[in-house]
Amino acid sequence: MSLKTTEPVKFAYWVPNVSGGLVISNIEQRTGWDIDYNRKLAQIAEANGFEYALSQIRFTAGYGAENQHESVAFSHALLAATTTLKVIAALLPGPWNPALAAKQIATISHLTNGRVAVNVVSGWFRGEFAAIGELWLDHDERYRRSEEFIRALRGIWTEDNFTFKGDFYRFNDYSMKPKPVDPQPEIFQGGSSRAARDMAARVSDWYFTNGNTPEEIRKQVDDIRTKAAANGHSVKVGVNAFAIARETEEEARAVLDEIVAKANPEAVQGFADQVKNAGKASPEGEGNWAKSSLEDLVQYNDGFRSNLIGTPVQIAERIIALKQAGADLILLGFLHFQEEVEFFGKHVIPLVRELEEQKQITAEAAE
Ligand SMILES: Cc1cc2nc3c(=O)[nH]c(=O)nc-3n(C[C@H](O)[C@H](O)[C@H](O)COP(=O)(O)O)c2cc1C
Repeated sequence: MSLKTTEPVKFAYWVPNVSGGLVISNIEQRTGWDIDYNRKLAQIAEANGFEYALSQIRFTAGYGAENQHESVAFSHALLAATTTLKVIAALLPGPWNPALAAKQIATISHLTNGRVAVNVVSGWFRGEFAAIGELWLDHDERYRRSEEFIRALRGIWTEDNFTFKGDFYRFNDYSMKPKPVDPQPEIFQGGSSRAARDMAARVSDWYFTNGNTPEEIRKQVDDIRTKAAANGHSVKVGVNAFAIARETEEEARAVLDEIVAKANPEAVQGFADQVKNAGKASPEGEGNWAKSSLEDLVQYNDGFRSNLIGTPVQIAERIIALKQAGADLILLGFLHFQEEVEFFGKHVIPLVRELEEQKQITAEAAE
């Protein structure tokens, strides 16, 4: 038997550690943001085929998310309540400096048998920066800082006598002890502008991008992987999606229609105004949210665009299409997290595994 040529696609879910769920809509949601709800959700997820959970960092309310729990502390609580799940804690350079972040995450790595990872986010919410008195940098400067942040994290985690002379951070002969346990914490990043992609192609383990069609994902993947290869680096890709899996396609579409119909237009417009500070503010004018319609923005990270809305069979086929476009991981948001994570794990993931198996057999037969 020949070796498998592709890894099974991985699944992650968004931790609802901020209130209001993952859509800017007044639709009824049975998603909680408190720790009891989230502990149970994490246990359901790890028992149902999810390998990762991603926490969010927000410092103020904006368009929804009236309450926000801090990402690192919350991630640790979820790790303490689970046994196999890996939890990715969001870190925002600025409020975090790499010395503290490296130390915090190394300790959590020891406490959890190496199950903690990080998502370095670069900031788009100018009002939030103003509220907490953080300096607002131009788009590409934010990425220059994030790249130094990541280089510093990695250096501190893997080297003794680490010395780094950056424009944002400086380390002198620094030996942090203890280092994280193996495996080293994986470093994810979010953003899809030119600067974000180039950073991924140089330093990140994972590139997270907003929801999109397989064709658009393929373009990003080809771009990043070509650049990464030229740098002698390799990077994996995670794609966001908002999943609505129901027995029939009509039921699933009806849920989407209701989410959009009950969207709060002022809040969505307010969000649209703030996200102009993301990709649109980059020199090339591209990146996350640069082409989003108002309907897309009802889901914070363009999750409807990935179109995982329909029956389990339809969704499984579309996940395979995203995988064929280069996605290594699908990051999922849901309306009613606990029950839908379980449904997804029981009814969609097994179909994905069957399709992966069939494709493998077809590929082997063609060899
Ligand atoms: C999966 C994912 C998770 C993100 N999580 C956060 C977060 O928790 N907090 C935050 O302020 N920004 C978050 N972001 C925003 C990004 O860090 C970035 O600022 C935004 O996507 C704009 O990037 P771009 O201009 O490079 O396209 C996230 C982005 C993605 C794709």
